[in-house]
Amino acid sequence: MRKSILAASMLGLMLSAGSSIADSHDAAMREYEAALNLTPDLENGKKVYRVCTVCHTPEGWGLESGAYPQVAGQLRTVIIKQLADIRARNRDNPTMVPFTSPQLLGGAQEIADAAAYISQLPMSPRNGIGPGIDLAWGKKLYEDNCTECHGENGEGHLEDHIPAVYGQHYRYLLRQFEWIKMERRRNADKKMVKQIHNFTHRDVRAVLDYVSRIRPPADKLAAEGWRNPDFPKFARPSNPHSGAGYTIDQRPQRPQRPIRP
Ligand code: HEC
Ligand code: HEC
Repeated sequence: MRKSILAASMLGLMLSAGSSIADSHDAAMREYEAALNLTPDLENGKKVYRVCTVCHTPEGWGLESGAYPQVAGQLRTVIIKQLADIRARNRDNPTMVPFTSPQLLGGAQEIADAAAYISQLPMSPRNGIGPGIDLAWGKKLYEDNCTECHGENGEGHLEDHIPAVYGQHYRYLLRQFEWIKMERRRNADKKMVKQIHNFTHRDVRAVLDYVSRIRPPADKLAAEGWRNPDFPKFARPSNPHSGAGYTIDQRPQRPQRPIRP
């Protein structure tokens, strides 16, 4: 057993750097398949998710600024695939990668559990949206270029692990789209890269502004001001202007300066 591991790692060293990309893709796909075929345990998913709340917030809503994406309500298969890709370095995410180590996150079972927990969380009623100045053009671009994969209403596709894009923060959508277009996101869909190849600066903004405004179905949305009761002790930041844990509209008001007579 030991010997074969040693032999395998030596073989790994001997192979060229080029093949490591294919290796990380294969490792991610193996983990994806394994997690997909396990029965998820929601109670354990909640425990696994605790460490993720620091960035993604207990609600899974991320930040309106798009620094952290909304993960609540995302398709289970998509969450599993992204976690497997990130930890296998098939998608670069330096901020999050330490939290996906086997020591912290666990194995395929924990990935399955966390994904099941996250996907059933109700979504933010107020995601970050774009400037709203070119929406008719954005709608046309969406219908002509995106529905085939991401669905008529941005709902994504479960079996094909295509992300739901409705309800996502505009600035996160923008960043991912640019990275996919520049071929900087390693796990990008090759057909999508081709499809958006000729998109201009204006096109990119218009289509994602439109996407950020597609409302998820009402039964997927949380009520205004909902707080996840599974994490009652989550320390919301004492400095409300730090942004973490709050969506922009929910931050406490800065005290009014007294008006001098
Ligand atoms: C230190 C902050 C941080 C922690 C902790 C963290 N994440 Fe993330 N996560 C991020 C950032 C930042 C991104 C987006 C990176 C980018 O822009 O490419 C992200 C992206 C994701 C995505 C991809 C979303 C998408 O739409 O493709 C998933 C899924 C995810 N995180 C789940 C988790 C889970 C589950 C945990 C806990 C095990 C976790 N994250 C912990 C910062 C964090
Ligand atoms: C041929 C299918 C296909 C087409 C067409 C396509 N996409 Fe995608 N898209 C995908 C897949 C698959 C992924 C996820 C790739 C992965 O990481 O596994 C994705 C990822 C994304 C992401 C990143 C989502 C996230 O949560 O990180 C965004 C944003 C996106 N697509 C927007 C669009 C828009 C807007 C269009 C139309 C202009 C479009 N896509 C056209 C298949 C497609």
